[in-house]
Amino acid sequence: MDKHEQGPGGAEDQRFSEEENEKTLTTRQGHPVRTNQNLRTVGNRGPATLENYDYIEKISHFDRERVPERVVHARGTGAHGYFETYGKVGDEPVEKYTRAKVFSGAGKQTPVLVRFSTVTHSAGSPETLRDPRGFAVKFYTEDGNWDLVGNNLKVFFIRDAMKFPDLIHAFKPDPVTNIQDSERIFDFISQTPEAMHMVTFLFSPWGIPANYRQMQGSGVNTYRWVNEEGKAVLVKYHWEPLKQGIKNLTQEEANEIQGENFNHATQDLYEAIESGDYPEWELCVQIMDDHEHPELDFDPLDDTKIWPEDQFPFLKVGKMVLNKNPDNHFNEIEQAAFGTGVLVDGLDFSDDKMLQGRTFSYSDTQRYRVGANYQQLPVNAPKKHVATNYEGGNMSYFTDRPKDANPHVNYEPSTLNGLEEATPKTKPHQPYAEGKLKKEPIDRENNFKQAGERYRLLKDWERDDLIMNLVTSLKPCQSHIQKKMISLFSQCDEDYGKRVAEGLGMNAGNMNEEMASEITPTKGKLPKQGGSPI
Ligand code: HEM
Repeated sequence: MDKHEQGPGGAEDQRFSEEENEKTLTTRQGHPVRTNQNLRTVGNRGPATLENYDYIEKISHFDRERVPERVVHARGTGAHGYFETYGKVGDEPVEKYTRAKVFSGAGKQTPVLVRFSTVTHSAGSPETLRDPRGFAVKFYTEDGNWDLVGNNLKVFFIRDAMKFPDLIHAFKPDPVTNIQDSERIFDFISQTPEAMHMVTFLFSPWGIPANYRQMQGSGVNTYRWVNEEGKAVLVKYHWEPLKQGIKNLTQEEANEIQGENFNHATQDLYEAIESGDYPEWELCVQIMDDHEHPELDFDPLDDTKIWPEDQFPFLKVGKMVLNKNPDNHFNEIEQAAFGTGVLVDGLDFSDDKMLQGRTFSYSDTQRYRVGANYQQLPVNAPKKHVATNYEGGNMSYFTDRPKDANPHVNYEPSTLNGLEEATPKTKPHQPYAEGKLKKEPIDRENNFKQAGERYRLLKDWERDDLIMNLVTSLKPCQSHIQKKMISLFSQCDEDYGKRVAEGLGMNAGNMNEEMASEITPTKGKLPKQGGSPI
């Protein structure tokens, strides 16, 4: 329907009054604007009068142009494109593992929206900062929407959602000075040993991808795939850049770019797509049988761990191409709402408690950030049939009920031509859960082994940059925090602890004993500038 032709009641509206055409400026009430340059004033010098309706409408809408920025991942950009399934998982038919239609039928394309972001800083912050990058994909599938809300790095700082607000508070600016402070960050991290794997990635060049095109993506958390028989496997998702490859920056290179352009990643993506150089990623999955895997030295649900590739190979399932920039950033990117609960039939949650914590948080914040009806906005609505009995709420202007359903019936069940439940065609997946309710850490924490392996896997220049960045950021910290960090690095790899200690003018030996006698935290201190911002 052309919005000018029919009102909400279906009546034909007159489109233009005399002297008006398509381009005539109007108010939102449809009044033609005869002067857009001057307030209505007593004489032409003022004072202004309160009945300046056109001005008051214009300025008060402007006053409300911003919605609250995302509490995390505020700085971002995005693009549209499509996902094309290979119809296979590696060499096997995809149907063996999942009945999700988005993956069936080789060559089938599903429209997608992707939003890339940085995590910690506000909406206008430089895109060169050391920070994980968000990689959120909305698939508009024939079964409804599926959101794969991931990051560039394959692991995360914490494995329990209870800690998320504290983690973010430590990384965000100090509540008094409003300055990010590496002492606050390492104060928290030094007591969060599960973060060592992520910290090792983050302070190396992997913590500053060169741009959004040349980075990987990962679902990070473990999910389930469910097939026609209702049988499940555990799955991890990975996006691998195709022709554009992977590129990261040293701190020095990032500083140089930041001096000239703090929108470089947004600009890079926009210009690549405008010039027809469409970025592409291959979607790969790792698969495990759906149980606890006591034979592994880590828990498959622990998002601070990778699944070793030699045991759990990357299996290709499809590719994604981004080929269209948004027509309007605010409408299509700022108002986009992604969440880990947005799954389709054949894709399911795992028991990962971090994932469940996330799943509550996304739609909760979006009801606050965008509004109760955020799912009706074109960018968030599925591109398929929607029929609900939801009613009202802020900014409600249509219902989801089809024209031939009884408009008086906004409940179910009903005998009066209301909406009806779908008839299930597939076997339900009914995971079994039993146990005592507890508030406890997991059993197989194994916080240091993979972090040490990562340290050893880095190339020499990456390791040098890691040590330099850690030393720079730890220098302004109190010595008990420095020593605790050195002790954690040493538990990952002896050389790791030794090199950070040397950089700080310390000796890595006996850090734990030394530390115990020396913890004298300072309260109410002045902020210490932490060298490179992270
Ligand atoms: C955004 C919560 C962990 C990836 C957000 C937002 C919240 C949130 C509240 C803002 C959403 C919005 O305003 O629309 C949490 C919680 C977590 C968690 C509570 C842990 C318990 C993670 C992890 C990843 C991740 C592990 C990576 C896999 C993202 C991304 C966005 C985001 C990519 C931005 C989505 C967009 O572009 O709109 N998160 N998050 N988060 N989160 Fe998380």
